Formats: sequence, structure tokens, C-alpha cells
Amino acid sequence: MSPKEIFFALFLIALSKADNPLTLADIEDSFTLSDAFVFREDQQIYRLPTNVIPLEYDISIDLFFDEISENPYSYNGIENIIIQAVENNVNQITLHANVDRINYITVITEDGVLVDLQPNAEYVLEPQYHFLRINLLESLIVDRNYTLMIEYSSTMNEGPMKRGIWRGWYKDANGTERIYATTHFQPYNARQAFPCWDEPLYKAVFKIHLSAPANYDAIFSNTALESESTNGGRVTKNFYETPKMSSYLVTFLVSESFQVIAENKSFTPPIRIIGRSNTAGLGDHALELSVKMTEFFDKYFEIPYSTLHPHLLNDHISSPDWASAGTENWGMVGYRELYMIIDPRETIMSIEHYAATLVSHELAHKWFGNLITCFWWSNTWINEGFASYFGYIATHEVFPQYELHEHFNSRYLQTSLSFDSGLSTVPMNYDVNTPAQVTGHFGTVSYSKGAAFLRMLADMITPETFRKACKYFLIDNAYEATYPEDLYDAFAKAIAEDGALNAYRNFNFTSFYDIWVNKAGNPILTVTINHATGEMNLKQERFLLSTTAAVDSQVYPIPITYSSKSNPSFTNLRPSYMMSTDAVVLSKEPGEEWVIFNNQQHGLYRVNYDEKSWNLIADALVSSPETIHHLNRAQVVDDVFALMRAERLSYEFGFKILRFLRNEVNYHVWNPAISGYTWLRNRFRHLPDVQANFDAHILSLMEHVIDVVGFEPKNNETPTVSLTRQEVLHFACLLGHEKCVQESRERFVALRNGTWIDPRIRRNVYVVGIREGSEVEFNFLLDRFENSNFANDQLEMLRGLAATKDKQLLLRYLAITLTKSVRCHDKATSFNYALLGNKENAKTVLEFVKNNIDEIRKAYIEDAPPNPVHTALSNLAAYLEEEDLVEYETWLRSTQSNSAQFASAISAITSSRNNMAWGSSKADEILSAARDGATSVIVSTSLIITMAILVTNRL
Ligand SMILES: *[C@@H]1O[C@H](CO)[C@@H](O)[C@H](O)[C@H]1NC(C)=O
Ligand SMILES: *[C@@H]1O[C@H](CO)[C@@H](O)[C@H](O)[C@H]1NC(C)=O
Ligand SMILES: [Zn+2]
Repeated sequence: MSPKEIFFALFLIALSKADNPLTLADIEDSFTLSDAFVFREDQQIYRLPTNVIPLEYDISIDLFFDEISENPYSYNGIENIIIQAVENNVNQITLHANVDRINYITVITEDGVLVDLQPNAEYVLEPQYHFLRINLLESLIVDRNYTLMIEYSSTMNEGPMKRGIWRGWYKDANGTERIYATTHFQPYNARQAFPCWDEPLYKAVFKIHLSAPANYDAIFSNTALESESTNGGRVTKNFYETPKMSSYLVTFLVSESFQVIAENKSFTPPIRIIGRSNTAGLGDHALELSVKMTEFFDKYFEIPYSTLHPHLLNDHISSPDWASAGTENWGMVGYRELYMIIDPRETIMSIEHYAATLVSHELAHKWFGNLITCFWWSNTWINEGFASYFGYIATHEVFPQYELHEHFNSRYLQTSLSFDSGLSTVPMNYDVNTPAQVTGHFGTVSYSKGAAFLRMLADMITPETFRKACKYFLIDNAYEATYPEDLYDAFAKAIAEDGALNAYRNFNFTSFYDIWVNKAGNPILTVTINHATGEMNLKQERFLLSTTAAVDSQVYPIPITYSSKSNPSFTNLRPSYMMSTDAVVLSKEPGEEWVIFNNQQHGLYRVNYDEKSWNLIADALVSSPETIHHLNRAQVVDDVFALMRAERLSYEFGFKILRFLRNEVNYHVWNPAISGYTWLRNRFRHLPDVQANFDAHILSLMEHVIDVVGFEPKNNETPTVSLTRQEVLHFACLLGHEKCVQESRERFVALRNGTWIDPRIRRNVYVVGIREGSEVEFNFLLDRFENSNFANDQLEMLRGLAATKDKQLLLRYLAITLTKSVRCHDKATSFNYALLGNKENAKTVLEFVKNNIDEIRKAYIEDAPPNPVHTALSNLAAYLEEEDLVEYETWLRSTQSNSAQFASAISAITSSRNNMAWGSSKADEILSAARDGATSVIVSTSLIITMAILVTNRL
């Protein structure tokens, strides 16, 4: 599963940061209700009893499209499941079912004898738990095979959001609109397609047979086609059996004209990219990613993919609709087309960059997730943490140009530190039971903290021992479900064999693993240095942003690394010491010099220093920044913003440290800086003068980087440089940077005149062109959007259209989000673009919401697991000022109090007010800190004045 699969609002937005790096920070903590974990009583009741296991499924599904008028887009299924009782006295079989109707059930013995069911109560359905309970007159005999036969019927979901079997749409090569049906079962939606033991623990073999109208003969599934036939205007395809696997990995796609759009036949089976017909020839980039990463993983794990099972395919589906970025269905990975159709002349760099890690993430799942599988979603991190780790670290080995090993820090490490410093965080291994809880655990903790924990571990034990542990884990648990102890055992074995931790006296690996996996949060290390003696006092405690939260005495085992001016060992990632207590004293050579802990910010902890030591760092950052590794300059920025928020550093002191940004041009350093400044300036939205002054301060820090990255991509620049320009200019234009606005506008004019504009700068060109333009520009871009064949360029155009300042045009844009022009999976994002486009847009969005709430609920698919309407309504609150908040709240209370989103929207209003109150209370302090930080350098006062006027005029 890819990181887009999230339950509630801010997770959705927060994680989409990775794909669209600029949407996040604005909403980050606009509300903190962790809906997923609210209802926790009677939890185990959602889990299946373990007394019966499935061995083999034989499933036939007949799919109907609009050729039948009485019940279009429906399906009938018949399945034969070979099951065994593994306990005595089982007279009730319980499995999952979430289909419209169960028509008929029988249970037959090995000898073909019918097992009698309870008369009058053959079976019962418990919809809340998706349970189907079959009542037998007598008990099953242990270890005997029985065949459970179930006939059922159901309806395809419309669009991808509710998963199960769903239908999407595309235009074929002739421009004709076509419907296709496909599946998305992770994590608990196979039960919508066929009744089954729908928990990862119940691995079984699946044989799939599909029938559809004869023109729907482009049909694909996990395994190779065994046979097919046509009869009475319908085609039937029979697929070979799968390996023993979890139900959520079953998949198929049924269409009229999906086809192989790129293929490498040197593999067995061939690696294929499959997509709609008018993307033929556009899958080469995705193919190259798949081929090279498959080669890599084959060698790395020493378990070649082709040896896993004789019938598994090596396919990748490029699907116009997809609820997540990608899903690791075994043999046929599903992706949102956005990430598969990559064209350097049309695709923005952030998407190309993300595609590399996404393909690699899904491929890593073929081993970590599919071959071995977490026994239950409480341990989702074992699937997702590994896939996320490999998605960056392995990809870097093969595609070094993307520098993903460094991007790991902002994508996973800093995200994890940030999330874990809130009060709603949970441990990686965490009991979840209801579907909402399960969905909620597919979030930052499982992906980001999981990945960051694994990288920290690899640094400690060396990458070679890490690889050995992975191999042990895979071999010892192949085709089985795994438990946290299994992973621990594999690591313990490899570590013992290699003596990988012998250097650390009295270090207890059991306790290290136990604490990081089973405890929430992460620590802050406080370093106090006696520069005369070289004595360094280290103290740790759990880091929380809240200044009022109770102190948590948890001690974390921290791998200690550090560099100093006299000994800059930033590239040494092997810890010099393992800190397992709350305090320790280390010593270095005496002498006054900067010292920075946590080399390249690889460890899951923040660092604070005494004032003197901070000053030495701050001075070095200004006088000789290159002597400090760029990832540690990034760490300083990330830590300083967190420390200021937690009131462990004053703004005055923090901004003094950050003044080095004035000469900084590195992506990794600017990324957390932009997040940090965005977080602050969003709290001044009700104070236009304050915001204008603060923006001027930020822009003065950005002048140099803007100059260096320039407005036009250079030949052969690295992807990271392209990303720097993308993020920096987007932020600068939003803050009204004159040259940025002018340069982008000029390019928009050129675009209208038919000039090709490099996709690496299109985001800004679209946004500014529309923001500064009128209806003509809007119509031009809308037309371009509707005629584009590139999902990634289309998404950028939506962002651009949303930046209009014209109320009527914005209402038009919002109305388009209700139509199918904006795909279901993009609706909440597009809504959010409207809020991000301009400060004054929120008022119009409120009007749109009030007038169209019923249509929004329907079009955005209110009851889909990621809760898109919750997201939209909560995000809106984060952008409104008091007068509009009153209007919004009144409307919610008088008309929406029974709605599913009421509580979260009200809570978002409270957060929004708190954020503004916080901004009011801190404005003087922060502005004065900004001025102080500026005194040592030339400040552009004319800029401040320009900004103030600009903003005042807008109101
Ligand atoms: C029970 O079913 C499994 C799975 O199909 C099969 O491998 C096994 O041979 C069967 N056992 C008997 C006794 O038929
Ligand atoms: C290591 O830690 C584990 C778990 O905390 C504990 O049970 C064990 O006794 C410790 N071992 C030693 C040698 O201290
Ligand atoms: Zn995944």
C-alpha cells in the first residue's frame, strides 16, 4: 500500500506532501482529533475466530456492465473454498462477507456428502463486523478437508474510493469514453468481492475465473491465463492458481482496450506495463524503473522473483483511477496513472521523483508484504516500513540521480519526528481492530517511523548485516504470516553471527527493539558542553510539542553520533556510543568549537544545546556553512522550528540561528524552512500587517536562493535542483515576490502563444498565470486541462485553476470538482488547492460549501475510507478568519449537526481560532525576532513597504 491511504483529513494532506511537496504545512495541525482511535470498546470482536482456516479458493465471478438494464455494473459469484477446522467442536464457520446478497450456501465433506446446516438459521450476517456465520448441525472433524460453496451477488462501486470491485473510466485511442472494472482489496476489501477470511494471516491459494461481455476481453489478473472460452456473447477467462497468499493481494482488471504499453521480455515472466490504449508508448520510464529495481531486489534478497511461483505475472497496471498512489497486488501491481505515464516534456519533477520511489516501494512489497506478511495490521509497519525504507535506500543504489537517500530525511525522518511529537501518536506495533482503526494505522507511524527506525538500525549493525537479517526473515517465514518476534529473531541471529553490536558494551538489543517498536514517541537529546574540559553532558527525555503535557519518563536507546569542527565526521553513521540511560557524560578534546550531534540526521531524535554551543553552531553556519554537512544544516532548521514551537528556544534565539538561510541554496535545508515559515505565517492570516512584515522577512532570506536557482531550468541540472526551484519559487510567488510573479506571468503569456514551457517550472507558471490573470487565461488553461493526455500535467493545471482570485471563476472551478473531469481520488486535493490558491479564496469556498453540501457529499464520496468530506470541511476552517468562522459555525450548528463531519468540523474551527489566538499572542515577539535576525545584514526596507501595501490592497 502506498502512503496515500489514510483515514482522516490531516493525514491525507500531510502525506500528500511527498507527492505534491507544497500542500502540507498549511494544514498540518489544523485539527488533531484522531478519529481512528476514538471508539475502542469491544475491539477483538472485529477479528475472526481462529478455529477454521481456508486452504484454497476457487472463485468464479460474472461481471455485468451496462449491457443489462435491470442491474447494471453488478456481478454474481460462486466460490468453492476448501477449509479445515483446526479445533474440536466447531459448529459455526465464521468468515467475512460484505456483498449485497448471499444466495446459497452448502458445506460438503471430502466424500461429497452434504453437511447439514441449522434449519431456519443456516447462516446469519452481521453487517457491522462484515461477518458471515454459517451454523452447522454437527461439528467439523479436525484436519479434514471440507468444501464451502457460496453463491452471492453484488454491485461494483462507482469509482475507486470505496475499493472492492469498482469501475472507472477512460478515453480510448479514438477519444471514446470507456468503462473498466478493477479491484483494490487492501486492507479489508476482498470481502466486497467474495466472502473470505479477509485477514492477512489466512494465507491460501486462489484460482480466479472471470466472465464478462465478449467485447470486454482485455482481462488481467495476478497469474497467467490458463484457458479461455467464448459463449453466448460472453468471454470467460481462467487464471492459474496463485501462490499461498493473503486475500488482500488478489486482483484483476476487466476492460475493452487496456493493453501492454511497454514490455521487457528478457525477464520470466516478462515485465509489462499495462494501460489504456492512448498511453501506448508512454510507459517506458515506468518500465525502466521496474526492470532495474527487479534486478536489484533479485540480487539483494537472493530470492529471484521468478522463483517465487511459476504462474505469478510481473505486470504493472497504469490505472486512470486509483484510490492510492499504488498497491502491491502480487503479480499485478496497481498504480494511479499519474505516476506511470512519465514524459520529461510533460511531467513535473516532483512526480517523476516520487514515481521512482513508488515503483521501488511496491516492488519491495513482493518480498516484504507478499512473500512474508504481517499477521495483522497492528504490525503494518513490517510491510510498510520495509517497503518505504527500500523505496528510498534501494532506489538510490540504482538511480543515484534522484538522491533519494537524502530526500529520505524530509520524507520520512522529519515527518516521523514531527508526528511523534504530538499527543495522538501511537507505537509502531499497536493494536487496531475496527476498519477505521486499521485504515488509521496506515499512516505516518507505520510508514515514516517504520522506515526511519530501519535505517537507524542498518546504520548500527551495518548494511551487510541488515541485508543478512532480511534474508533470514524472508526465508524463515516465506509464504507465511509473521509476528514481531520473527523479525526480532532474524535480526538477533544475523547480529550475533556477525558480532555486529560487539563494539557496544552492555548494549541490550532486545530492549532496543522492544522500546522502539512498542513505545510511542521519540526523544530529544539535550547537550551541555564544557568547552574548557571537553566534557559533554547528554540528557534525554521524550519530546512533545505541547508545553502543558505531563512529562513522559520513557527512556529511548539512542545511537549517538557527532561531529565537531576539529573532527568533522559527518559521513560516519555508525554510532560511537549507544545511550540507553536518561543521562550520560561523554568527553572530547577540550577547546571551543562547534559540535553537532546526530550525523546527517539519521537518528530518530532531536537535539538541543546549551546557549554557548548553539552560538558556536550559529556562527559556523554563517561563516563557513560548507564545513557542516547539508543534512545537518537541514537538521538544525528542522530542530530549531520544533524547539521554538515547544518553547525550548526563544524566537529571538531561533531566528538568530536561522539567519544563515540568507546564503543557503540547498534543497534539504530549505524544505523544512519553508514548512516552518508556512506554519508560522498561517497563524498571522488575520493580521495582514504582521503577515506582510513577516513575509518580507522570509523573502529577504530567500533572495539569494531565488537568484541562484533562477527561473529557467538549466541543462543537465540535478532533479534535486529542479525540486529546489519548484518549491522555492512556489513559496516566493505566494508571498508576492515581484520578480517571481513577473517571470512566471511572462511564461504564461508565452504558453498561450504556443511556446513549450518546461514542466519543471509549470507549477508556478500555471498558478501565477491564473492568479494574476482573468477569465481568458482561466478558459485557456481549463481547455488545456480537458484536452491533456497527461494526468500529472492535469493535476498541476487544477492547482493553477484554483489560484484564480475571481470569485465567479473560483465558483466555476469548484463546480468542476463536482464533475467527473476531476477524478474521485483528486477531489479533496482539488478542493484544498482552492484554499491554498489565495488567502481570500476561503470566503468563496465557504459559500460554495453552504450552497452545495449535498452535491459535495455525493461527488466526493462521503463514506469512502479516507473521509474526503471530513478533510474538505476541516481544511476550510483552517483558512477562515473570525467573521467567516462565525458564519461557518452557525451554518454547521443549524443545518449540519447530524452530519458525520459535524464534530471534526467544529473541532477544526476551534483549532483555527486557537491558531489565530496563538498568532496574536506571539506576533510582537516573532516580528521583533525577525527584525533582530535581520539587523546584522542589509534588509530591504523597500520590500517591506511594498509588501505591506500589496497586502492591504488585497483586503
Ligand atoms: C485438502 O486440501 C488441500 C488444498 O487443496 C490439498 O492440498 C490436500 O491434499 C487436501 N487433503 C485431502 C486429504 O484431500
Ligand atoms: C535485555 O532487555 C530485555 C527486555 O527489556 C530483558 O528482558 C533482558 O533481561 C535484558 N538482558 C540483559 C542481559 O540485561
Ligand atoms: Zn506499501
